[in-house]
Amino acid sequence: MKQLTAGLLGSTGAVGQRYVAMLDDHPFIRLETLMGGESAGKMYGEAARWLSPTEIPRAAARMKVRSTSPENAKGCDLVFSALPSEAAERVEPRFAKAGFNVITEASARRMDEHVPLIIPEVNPSHLSLLDVQRKRTGWRGSIVATPNCTVTGLTMVMKPLLGRFKLRKVVVTSMQAISGAGFPGVPSLLITDNVIPYIKNEEEKVADESRKILGVAAGGSVSPANLELAISCNRVPVVDGHLETLYAEFSGAVTPAAATKALTRFRGAPQELHLPTAPEHPIIVRTEHDRPQPRLDRFAGSVPGMSVVVGRVRNGIGRNSIQLTLLSHNTIRGGAGTAILTAELMAAQGRLGR
Ligand SMILES: NC(=O)c1ccc[n+]([C@@H]2O[C@H](COP(=O)([O-])OP(=O)(O)OC[C@H]3O[C@@H](n4cnc5c(N)ncnc54)[C@H](OP(=O)(O)O)[C@@H]3O)[C@@H](O)[C@H]2O)c1
Repeated sequence: MKQLTAGLLGSTGAVGQRYVAMLDDHPFIRLETLMGGESAGKMYGEAARWLSPTEIPRAAARMKVRSTSPENAKGCDLVFSALPSEAAERVEPRFAKAGFNVITEASARRMDEHVPLIIPEVNPSHLSLLDVQRKRTGWRGSIVATPNCTVTGLTMVMKPLLGRFKLRKVVVTSMQAISGAGFPGVPSLLITDNVIPYIKNEEEKVADESRKILGVAAGGSVSPANLELAISCNRVPVVDGHLETLYAEFSGAVTPAAATKALTRFRGAPQELHLPTAPEHPIIVRTEHDRPQPRLDRFAGSVPGMSVVVGRVRNGIGRNSIQLTLLSHNTIRGGAGTAILTAELMAAQGRLGR
């Protein structure tokens, strides 16, 4: 694959740090420019409060954090954005207008009609929206979004069930890690010894984004999937890894064994194309009674943190439903990893690079 250079917005944050770690030895994407807000002007090694137990990559530690401006990404083939939503809303269109292909984590434009909201294994065909996006906006570059961290694992599990068994109703309860709120996140006095049964705007995002991702892209827009969803989001005292329990109802009979088979066999375009960040098994199904668990399973799979781990697949109510528990790493599969995989897919499709 052709070598690509990338800029990174929001490089010092919880998700930004994952990009820095994951791109350190990437075979064809090289991080050329790290950008920040208040940390601009400092060396990355001193600006980033490194959260991972692995060492901060040496090359990145010695880079100077630049201010957030298209000028500072000059020469880059793409720009990853891990900006908070308000900053993203203002900043990302300036980069797209200046000719950069932006892949963003932020929620600001996920639901815009012409912005593809991508999980490469689930809806790679939605990248076709980019042709209409360029025409409508006049941008030389583009914006592609990746989903909310709770949505990614959820829709990866819903996709094979939707295709195989006509999924129609889903009830989800999430137990979301503290790092999902960024750094410094939820105050320790609120989250220690506690569960907070509310995350602002999260349930709406999970419903809307899931329907868009599982919908059909045609004629420059997406017809959302016709799914009934009931969602409850909770913040729990776990550092990384969102756990979700799922009750899924179908229009016909389904058994736990058949659902397990569909989940285990699920593969997508990244696996077919052997993209470097694609896990061999996007979904891993465990059979023990007490898995998945965040501490034990968040780094599962051939690319650590990129597989969704499912367990407790069992009967629901009657013959037309099942229940299961799923786990996905929120800053890797739910964050930087999915965006990097999207860049790899776009590169394979010839959508990136000069
Ligand atoms: N955490 C997750 O699990 C997760 C998963 C998926 C998506 N997301 C989304 O990813 C984005 C980043 O999340 P995060 O958890 O990494 O947040 P975070 O830890 O708060 O990091 C925010 C980053 O953005 C920079 N920044 C803040 N305001 C800025 C401004 N006005 N101009 C330029 N840079 C600015 C900060 O740089 P300075 O420190 O230099 O100011 C920092 O590098 C958010 O949109 C979030 O919703 C998060």
